[in-house]
Amino acid sequence: MSDTFYTTTAIDYTNGKPHIGHAYEKVLADVITRYKKLSGNKTYFLTGVDQHGQKVQQTAEKEGVHPATYVRKTTKNFTNAWKSLELEFDGWAETMDDNHKACVADILQKLYDEGQIYKKQYKGFYSIKQEQFLTDKERDEEGNFGPEWGIVEERDEENYYFKLSDHVEWLRTFVEKSEDFIIPSFRKADVVNAIERAEDTDLCISRPKERLRWGIELPFDSEFVTFVWFDALINYISFAGYNKPEGSDLPGFDKLWPANLHIIGKDILIPSHSIYWPCMLHAIGFSDEQMPSLLVHGFWNINSGKVSKSEMTPEQAAMLDPVNLVEKFGADCVRYYLVRDIHTGKDSNFDPERLVMLFNTELANNLGNLCNRGLSMTKRFLNGAKAESDYDDELSQDLRAQSITTIATYQEAMERYAVSEALEAVIKYITLCNQYTDKQAPWSLAKDETKMAELTTVLGHLTEVVAIVSVLLKPVIPAACERIQKQLKADFLAGINIDDLKWGLIPVGHEVAKPKPVFPRISLEEE
Ligand code: ME8
Ligand code: MG
Repeated sequence: MSDTFYTTTAIDYTNGKPHIGHAYEKVLADVITRYKKLSGNKTYFLTGVDQHGQKVQQTAEKEGVHPATYVRKTTKNFTNAWKSLELEFDGWAETMDDNHKACVADILQKLYDEGQIYKKQYKGFYSIKQEQFLTDKERDEEGNFGPEWGIVEERDEENYYFKLSDHVEWLRTFVEKSEDFIIPSFRKADVVNAIERAEDTDLCISRPKERLRWGIELPFDSEFVTFVWFDALINYISFAGYNKPEGSDLPGFDKLWPANLHIIGKDILIPSHSIYWPCMLHAIGFSDEQMPSLLVHGFWNINSGKVSKSEMTPEQAAMLDPVNLVEKFGADCVRYYLVRDIHTGKDSNFDPERLVMLFNTELANNLGNLCNRGLSMTKRFLNGAKAESDYDDELSQDLRAQSITTIATYQEAMERYAVSEALEAVIKYITLCNQYTDKQAPWSLAKDETKMAELTTVLGHLTEVVAIVSVLLKPVIPAACERIQKQLKADFLAGINIDDLKWGLIPVGHEVAKPKPVFPRISLEEE
């Protein structure tokens, strides 16, 4: 049985370089994984690159290099970007990997032996951009294949087909009854409609080598390579240790599967992830209980259109390079913006001005101010130590009560992967804490010797709330929260379980360090 929360992202490969949409998906997965860890789960986060296929072959040809050389070079762009964004993934999936290739070949052979794969002649239209054959269902009202398919050419060739149609009836029932196969559930209707259309079609899973060499060879026919989706989708199990060879250091499959979440964008829900993939798993012998959940996120658009590099100014293009953004604003700032200014499942417009504004108002000013005031006054007025006090008042009671509500709201939102809502609850609480500070005016209390108990209570409360928010925000802005926890001298917060996040984290007598500003304010202009 599974005892690990297994988070996977789509494996990307556009232009050999990651863009802001890719970065969002990985950060979202990283935040969810870190949250699951905070909730006491063992976690495993897998991401990687989808290295095969016609587009890769064509680009490599243009550059005059072997696809493997091209892919090795460009894969570094992804690993570098994910490092700069401080992603903590456990597994890295490269589809050129030998274990993966062997796993795909084994699955193909098994399905072929069972008669689930057959060969036939087919004459039809093929989209190079989407790397798939098109049918009349893909034509628009005028009978044309729309621009989303790119160049479409007619082809007449023999290929191997997977009997997708054998599994469609099962899939229909499964999707209809399943509560969490597709998250958010508003996307389910589209999938149900797509299943209707898929009813009598099988999936072409091969490409003749004259056309495409850069793929996994079919184990039963060396004249063909595997269709890129049939190869790439299998990464979710091959890198999770499915059918792993003896002595391999891949994870134990039964530990990871099926407690898992595949995090994908809305453009690859239909047909690959909601039709091909569950049917492939079903054909291999996976039960309903072993099907994954798909968390389908929306798109970051630029200028309210789909991210399209061709229409961009060089400045806009630079702003969409996650590595540039991190260099300019820091990993925490980019991570924060990418999960704060979008509602999981919906689209959003990428806007560098909002990135700067949200960072400055919510983190630099609001949170920065709370940390700085709380800790520097503790240092100045109480020699840095949290002290005993029997003073209490309504404002302090309310602050404590609101901490419980905030944690609950945060947790409830995170369980739904609604990261922005969770952050909103924390930011609202930080605002309340700053209002509490203003109303209590500890700087005035400090001037009056008879107000020592009040001062001690107020500063003790501030130390406590700084500790709480440093834990809640850590999945999103880990580096900043580590700095805060260092200033609190509270290393023990690093391994805390969210269920133990209760008032009284910082013991009486505990000493804090001298605070340093945690967030420098940022601006769009070069300094
Ligand atoms: O589809 N906003 O790769 P990919 C948000 N190799 N997400 C976006 C986005 C945007 N503007 N643009 C793309 C592939 N994405 C395949 C996946 S998985 C077995 C194979 C998301 O590089 C997109 O939805 O085109 C997908 O989830 C991921 O980035 C990789 O896209
Ligand atoms: Mg794509």
